[in-house]
Amino acid sequence: MDYYSKPKDISALDAKLEAQKIAFSPIAFQAVMTLLRTDILKYLSDTGEQGATAKQLAEQSKISEYGVKVLLDMAASMGVVWIENDDTFRLDKIGHFIVNDKLTLANINFTQDVCYQGMFHLEEAIRSGKPSGLKVFGDWPTIYPALTSLPDNVKKSWFEFDHFYSDHSFPEVLPIIFEDKPNCILDVGGNTGKWTLACLNFDTDVHMAIMDLPQQLTVLQGNVAEQGMSERIEVHPTDLLAADAQFYQGADVIWMSQFLDCFSQEQILDILKGAVNVMTQDTSLFIMETYCDRQRYEAATYCINATSLYFTALANGDSRMYHSGDFIKLIQKAGLYVEKDIDDIGLGHTLFKCRKNMRITD
Ligand SMILES: C[S@@+](CC[C@H](N)C(=O)[O-])C[C@H]1O[C@@H](n2cnc3c(N)ncnc32)[C@H](O)[C@@H]1O
Repeated sequence: MDYYSKPKDISALDAKLEAQKIAFSPIAFQAVMTLLRTDILKYLSDTGEQGATAKQLAEQSKISEYGVKVLLDMAASMGVVWIENDDTFRLDKIGHFIVNDKLTLANINFTQDVCYQGMFHLEEAIRSGKPSGLKVFGDWPTIYPALTSLPDNVKKSWFEFDHFYSDHSFPEVLPIIFEDKPNCILDVGGNTGKWTLACLNFDTDVHMAIMDLPQQLTVLQGNVAEQGMSERIEVHPTDLLAADAQFYQGADVIWMSQFLDCFSQEQILDILKGAVNVMTQDTSLFIMETYCDRQRYEAATYCINATSLYFTALANGDSRMYHSGDFIKLIQKAGLYVEKDIDDIGLGHTLFKCRKNMRITD
C-alpha cells in the first residue's frame, strides 16, 4: 500500500494542481452530477468517436448552449471529456467510467442523494461524535431507524450502494458458509433479506433466523413472502444496542455482513460478547467487512475512507470502516479467535470465520 504509507512523489506544480482539485471538489462533483442527470455524458458515450457540438448537445438535453459549455469546460478540466478541433466534445476515459461503471454510479448516486447536504455538517459531527448531518432528513439518533422513511431517491441510493458491495460477495462466500452444512443460520442485520434469500435458495433445507430493527424486518418478511419461503424464517426484531438485547440462541452459524461497521469499538465489543454468550464450541461466527488496510486497489481504499466519513456525518457519528488489526483485537477481547481469514472477496471484502475461545472462562 505505497499509495497510503509513503509521501506522494509528485512535483510542487502537480501538488498545487491536486490542491485546487480539492478546493473546488464540490463544484466539480455537481458539474458531473448535472452532466449525468441531463444525459449529456450518456449522449457523448453513445456518439463515440463522432462526439457532439455544444449546439447538438443543447438540443438533445433541452438546456441552453451556455449551460452545456460551462459544464463541459469544467468536465474537460477534469478529464471527463476532451474538445476536438475547438468545437466537438468527446467522452474521455474518466467520463467512460462515470457513465458506464456500476461501481462509480453507485458511489456517485450515494454521494449526491444520501451524503451531499449532510456532509456540510462534518466538522460538527467530528466535534460532537453525533451524526450531525442527519438533520437534513429529520430528527433521528442514527440513520438506521430512518432508513425506510427516507425520501424515495435517498432510500434508493442508500440501498443500491449497500447492496452493490454485498451482492458481489454473496455468491463467493455461500459455499464457504455451507461447508459444515448448517441447519440454522442467524443473519444479524439482515436488512432487506438479500443474504437470507441467497441462503434459502442455496440450500433448500436451511432455516434462517434474522435479527434487525423492526422497520427493516417488515420489508424483509415481505421479500421472503414474495418468494414463498416464509415458513423457513423466523424474525427477531431487536435493537442490538439496547441494554437488554438478547441474541437468538440455537443457530449453527452466526452471520454478520457489513453490520459491525455500523458501531463504535465499544459497541462492537458488547455485540460480539452477546453473540459469544449464545455460542457453543461448534458454532461459527462469520464476519464480512471491508478493511481499509486490506485492499488491493488504491480506488478501493479511497472509497472505504470516504465511506467512513458518511458514517461520521450521517449514519451514527462514531463508527467507520475499520483497520483489520483493530477489529481482530475486538474479536479476541470478546472471547473469540479467527480460524479463517480470507481477503479479496467480491469488491474488497474480508471474511473472518471465528470460533469461541473455550479456554476463556469468565
Ligand atoms: C449496512 S446494513 C448491512 C445489511 C446486510 N447485512 C448487507 O450485508 O448488505 C446494516 C444493517 O444493520 C442494521 N442495524 C443497524 N443498527 C442496528 C441495531 N442497533 N440493532 C439491530 N440492527 C441494526 C440496519 O438496520 C441494517 O439493516
